[in-house]
Amino acid sequence: MQPEHPFRIGVLGSGKGSNFVAIAEAIAAGTVRATVAAVFSDVADAGILRQARDRGLPAEHLPAGKFRTKLDEEAEALYVRRLREARVDVVALAGFMRVLKGDFLRAFPLRIVNIHPSLLPAFPGLEAWKQALQYGVKVTGCTVHFVDEGVDSGPIIGQEAVPVLPGDTAASLHERIQQAERRLYPAVVGALAEGRVRVSGRQVTGL
Ligand code: GRF
Repeated sequence: MQPEHPFRIGVLGSGKGSNFVAIAEAIAAGTVRATVAAVFSDVADAGILRQARDRGLPAEHLPAGKFRTKLDEEAEALYVRRLREARVDVVALAGFMRVLKGDFLRAFPLRIVNIHPSLLPAFPGLEAWKQALQYGVKVTGCTVHFVDEGVDSGPIIGQEAVPVLPGDTAASLHERIQQAERRLYPAVVGALAEGRVRVSGRQVTGL
């Protein structure tokens, strides 16, 4: 059972849900004082839905509609409605493979956060760990940021650096970054839940 806290998060994901699990475990352990109000996925058999249901948390598949990389108009309205019904304070994207557009963003201004597997603004977009490896950087990491109209371009809340080691493969580097994600994302959700995060333009403090 999750403890009930007034700060409610909605989680959107398309994949296995390891970031969601890290957040849910931090809540269950009492280190993050928030409630998972809802988990939604555009993928019917996504691991994130199973992980939520295994923990007795509300989880639902919401189809994304006719496009491949974004929500269609009907789906967007459905996601916004469900998140509002769940009375979420913050929407946490955890591997949600759809770009969110204007109406969705305007429904939750400065209340949508995302985790990205690089030290932004380096390597936005897909498979950022492969981009980092190919470029030859010695340090990469992960970033939690507010979501804006661009791709991985919103104000940065927190980052954790990860070394690129000799002999790293895409898989080994990705795993090291994901370990950092599982520390960073719960810490950011905790800071948001405690009301510590302040935003002024691109400057974000409080983590
Ligand atoms: C994470 O690595 C995150 O950086 C990216 O999507 C991945 C989701 O993984 N945005 P998981 O579903 O949380 O395991």
